[in-house]
Amino acid sequence: MDFSYLETSDYIEMRSTNETAILADLRRETEIKCLNPIMLSGKAQGNFLSIISKIIKPKNVLEIGTYSGYSTLCIAEGLDSNGMIDTIDKNEELLEIQNKYFKKSGFREQIKQHTGNALEIIPKITYSFDMIFLDADKENYSNYLDIVYPLLKKGGILLTDNVLWHGKVLKSKNNHDKTTKLIDEFNKKLALHKSLKTAMIPLRDGISISIKL
Ligand SMILES: C[S@@+](CC[C@H](N)C(=O)[O-])C[C@H]1O[C@@H](n2cnc3c(N)ncnc32)[C@H](O)[C@@H]1O
Repeated sequence: MDFSYLETSDYIEMRSTNETAILADLRRETEIKCLNPIMLSGKAQGNFLSIISKIIKPKNVLEIGTYSGYSTLCIAEGLDSNGMIDTIDKNEELLEIQNKYFKKSGFREQIKQHTGNALEIIPKITYSFDMIFLDADKENYSNYLDIVYPLLKKGGILLTDNVLWHGKVLKSKNNHDKTTKLIDEFNKKLALHKSLKTAMIPLRDGISISIKL
């Protein structure tokens, strides 16, 4: 087994700027109370999201996959003073922890939660976005791309998490499970998209950054 990737990830995590106290508390509470806490973005990726958001200063952000709200709060750090994040999650049990930390963070008024299936909620949205963070059901990434593309402003940024899928997308892994295939197809669709320019960043589980041309 090749441990260098895990070692690199640990090093990146260790040498990234520390989280705010609120984010550290949220991460700890997520680890204790929520299923699959590995889903939470964490410090290095959270900083990355925060920095991208601070560069863009978005007025409107769409997040697909809120979970406990960690990435929502990282992105909120860069919002325009009148900016808003629409964040969607199908799991209503997560609202309690989200609400607790959204309130503590001072960003409460800038976050609008939607509870339900994102594939049904997104088509009802009538405004467009400067930044979109895609981090929900991986099998539907390609479907999400189809429905969010028209909502992304020209020059807007699409970030997509888990594009390396624990390395399973690599040819050498010879992995043919359905989710891996669908993620690989999505990655190909992003790379070949005529109106998106994409770079894949091997941060954590892989995050793609795409700009709408
Ligand atoms: C990887 S977690 C999101 C992590 C979060 N963005 C973060 O970085 O802390 C994925 C979330 O997507 C939600 N989800 C999965 N499928 C969904 C769907 N079809 N519609 C809405 N939410 C969905 C799950 O309930 C889960 O909370």
